[in-house]
Amino acid sequence: MRAATQIELCRRSLAYIEGRRTEVGAHTYFNPVGDYSCPRQLAQERERLFLREPLLLAISGQLPVPGAYLTTDLGGRPLLLVRGDDGRVRAFLNVCRHRGTQVAAGCSTAAGKGAFTCPYHAWTYDTQGRLKAVNPAYAFEGVKREERGLVELPCAERHGLVWACQSPGQAIDVDALLGGLADEFEAYDLGRYTHFETRVLHKPFNWKLVLDTFLETWHIPVLHRKTVAPIFQPDVGVFDAFGRNGRMVIPRRSILELKEQPESQWSLLKHTAIVYCLYPNTIFVWQGDHVEIWRSYPDGDAPGRCVTEMSFYIPEPAETESARRHWQRNLELLLATVENEDFPLCAQIQRGAESGAQHYTTFGRNEPALSHFHAGIRGALGLPPYVPA
Ligand code: FES
Ligand SMILES: [Fe+2]
Repeated sequence: MRAATQIELCRRSLAYIEGRRTEVGAHTYFNPVGDYSCPRQLAQERERLFLREPLLLAISGQLPVPGAYLTTDLGGRPLLLVRGDDGRVRAFLNVCRHRGTQVAAGCSTAAGKGAFTCPYHAWTYDTQGRLKAVNPAYAFEGVKREERGLVELPCAERHGLVWACQSPGQAIDVDALLGGLADEFEAYDLGRYTHFETRVLHKPFNWKLVLDTFLETWHIPVLHRKTVAPIFQPDVGVFDAFGRNGRMVIPRRSILELKEQPESQWSLLKHTAIVYCLYPNTIFVWQGDHVEIWRSYPDGDAPGRCVTEMSFYIPEPAETESARRHWQRNLELLLATVENEDFPLCAQIQRGAESGAQHYTTFGRNEPALSHFHAGIRGALGLPPYVPA
């Protein structure tokens, strides 16, 4: 992040702390409960958002060398991401062109064999998805190997991050996707980060509630008083929109030290956590010393179920026992906060949405990141702004 932007965001943070205020949006936002509970809307979201939009699936460090790969099917389709022997990351439907088995499983950061052999009858594909061997060759006369490579999907690697779409189609324009955040992400130097751990959590609430819980901070002194409240300034968030994405700066209590320093020495990154809501389904948290990415997906066709993947990334490999313990403690604090404190309330909100108690919930003007996220999703689905009857 540029120094001038950091100083401006520090100024805004300090002004809000001083004035006992926070960023406010233009108006109160009414969010229909069907956003969380309507099967028809969920079907539209799966089709329009999850199958068609680029999804942030990995950091470059998860695919460090040619042959390294990862697989996922959380978005609804089996995907394979692999760095080819030409150094390029590609995405494919992880579907054998013989009878449809998944040709790869799990993930690997090593070069491996440089090929994927289907576990069923051993058709083999190279790291660029080309079908290299058909077994037995005499039985598949007329099958043109050059036409039976893995089905390629749009994929882009920029700023140390990897996006892919779940449907074949147009190339991904990362700059357009980031809506003005490209310089900021480039400056984070994410290319040097490594993956520490990923947890996959199945939860009884709508996928958007995972993002919602990160998009306002004034619940921290209430809900998280025993975990992270001592770390952050209560009730202060600085919000800016970037296309359908949003950035919320959450000042740590240590930010008050800046008052004693000349502005030219101010470092925003040291004294805040920065939460990015990356459309459509990702929360990216810059924590200063590490990065957390939460991806949230519908779990099947029930609006009240989701599967979320929390990935924890660190700036250099944890090679000693004490480094591993340090990061493990960090990760456990994160889960103690989000999984044990936020998520049970998300489950309650889901029950509330399905209870018939009310037609809509309300985001206050002090929750601009929430309004922006939900308005963006509705816009992408072609739904008109909701107006209470
Ligand atoms: S399904 Fe892959 S080789 Fe038969
Ligand atoms: Fe929270």
